[in-house]
Amino acid sequence: MTNIKTVFVTGGAGYIGSHCVLSLLEAGYNVVAIDNFVNSVEQQESAASLDRVSRITGKKIIFYKCDLLDIQQLDDIFNKHQFDCVIHFAAMKSVGESIKQPLMYYKNNIVGAMNLLDVMAAHECYQLVFSSSCTVYGNPIFLPITEDHPIGNVTNVYGRTKYFIEEILKDSVNSDPKWNVISLRYFNPVGAHSSGLIGEDPTKNFSNLMPYIALVALGKKPTLSIFGGDYETPDGTGIRDYIHVMDLAEGHVAALKKLQSKQSHLEVFNLGSGQGTSVLEFVQTFENVTGVKVPYIIEARREGDIGSMYANCDLARTKLGWTAKYTLDDICRDFWRWQSLNPNGYKGNSITSTNGDTCH
Ligand code: WQD
Repeated sequence: MTNIKTVFVTGGAGYIGSHCVLSLLEAGYNVVAIDNFVNSVEQQESAASLDRVSRITGKKIIFYKCDLLDIQQLDDIFNKHQFDCVIHFAAMKSVGESIKQPLMYYKNNIVGAMNLLDVMAAHECYQLVFSSSCTVYGNPIFLPITEDHPIGNVTNVYGRTKYFIEEILKDSVNSDPKWNVISLRYFNPVGAHSSGLIGEDPTKNFSNLMPYIALVALGKKPTLSIFGGDYETPDGTGIRDYIHVMDLAEGHVAALKKLQSKQSHLEVFNLGSGQGTSVLEFVQTFENVTGVKVPYIIEARREGDIGSMYANCDLARTKLGWTAKYTLDDICRDFWRWQSLNPNGYKGNSITSTNGDTCH
């Protein structure tokens, strides 16, 4: 039994990372986080999201601005702290951008992950939770998707980087039984913490449905473009498995507890709601919950999109004791609270240093 006390979180200032850091702190873990802000539109110098996580929890977070491609700085951080486990979120994540700039994605996501594994091993830290993605499944052969669905037939570079990293982890574990790894395959993370203080920053690069609904709801975009009305789904629009970001965060806490049991060296789990929701159903739910109309137009399908994708999460339920608790109504309500309180995301609210000082 390896008792985990201090967790190193890469990409900790991001949308999913910051919500996970909140859950880790509330579960009693110490957190050291890094981020290079590559997913931010403007180059930030501080982690406003983590500053707010500290305010919500009343707990301190040690933060460094660090790029995983800077292996020397990464090693220096591991020299300063004793990490019991790493949660690796840091990655570029735009499906569309990945197709246009593959080398940037392979370098940032794969070389970054390999640097992390090298430095972890050099410091005898072999416990890892990896942020993977349902995109590794490619076009589903069957639904709902279970973890034994074939992977690797992916439709975009982003998904391929996640698949390659899963393969690198599998080979690492096979070569050295000291590794203790859990890969979590996220479906569609959406929503925000109920405080309304943290959420997906609308000023960042995005292509996802929820931020676009927000732009329309905030009056910043006249209509929502719905990509495709001719899929083989009940209403013709794409079906996805939307999971509340706090359910996702709790899934990581459950994964840490599973790692501590050291029952195996490599396990993979789907993290989703287990429900398929169409774009039109999502829009309708958002309007019902918030009372805000979202005008839309149905356009041509988006390149690389698939029709339906949703998860079977029985394995996470039975092995991690985890299941999604929040509903689509909760997702829309929490998201809209965050979005309407922070129409410009985290702009102008950051007071966090970037030289390893603690957040306030
Ligand atoms: C959802 C649905 C679109 C925008 C995401 C992430 C990927 C991975 C899986 C974690 C689709 C439709 C969207 C819009 C629309 N998650 N849509 N109008 O493509 O499922 O992939 O989840 O790793 O990283 O990208 O999510 O939100 O882009 O699309 O109609 O303006 O909404 O066609 O059916 P996707 P998405």
